Amino acid sequence: MTGPAAWPPAPIKTERLVLRASEARDRDAFVELFSSPEVGTYIGGSQSREEVDRTAPEVPGRRHGVFVVELDGEMIGMISFDVVDEGRELGYLFLPSSWGKGFAYEACVAALDWYAATHPDELLTSCTQVANTASMRLLAKLGFTEGEHFEAYGAEQCHWRQ
Ligand SMILES: CC(C)(COP(=O)(O)OP(=O)(O)OC[C@H]1O[C@@H](n2cnc3c(N)ncnc32)[C@H](O)[C@@H]1OP(=O)(O)O)[C@@H](O)C(=O)NCCC(=O)NCCS
Repeated sequence: MTGPAAWPPAPIKTERLVLRASEARDRDAFVELFSSPEVGTYIGGSQSREEVDRTAPEVPGRRHGVFVVELDGEMIGMISFDVVDEGRELGYLFLPSSWGKGFAYEACVAALDWYAATHPDELLTSCTQVANTASMRLLAKLGFTEGEHFEAYGAEQCHWRQ
């Protein structure tokens, strides 16, 4: 089941959200996501809207393991399962207007169910700045185990594994 053949899955519905592969109509939301200084606070910053708009592909995020998270027909964030040395790494970025309402948790629970069913033998990790309280809390709530802390990019980072 693992690999490109398993992608994209049929859209996944949760109580309030839909998780699906990226489409051309999501481009503006991707540009907003990657040019938002708030979103960039703990991930190395953001680029100007003009720069992101100039360099973004026609359909950003169209690759295996990237889910667009949709609320009422509009993209509010994305979840990714990118390949790293030891397996795959969970990532998530949501637009600030959607924060604090349990959307990231709700979407990640559904995405993790998909991952467990389609990548049963692949280790899943995540990494976040310790100062990123929301992200640290989210990983703990999702059942990840906190691992070693280390310095990178001038900040204290934390490694998590499922
Ligand atoms: C991290 C992020 C996805 C969380 O999204 P969210 O939709 O606000 O998260 P949820 O509402 O599902 O909350 C999950 C948990 O985190 C807690 N939380 C959310 N924001 C918080 C904050 N600012 N401070 C402390 N806890 C916070 C919630 O209370 C909840 O825990 P609880 O149920 O015990 O109360 C969002 O803040 C984001 O996109 N940040 C920018 C991108 C980023 O840093 N991504 C992580 C890169 S490693």
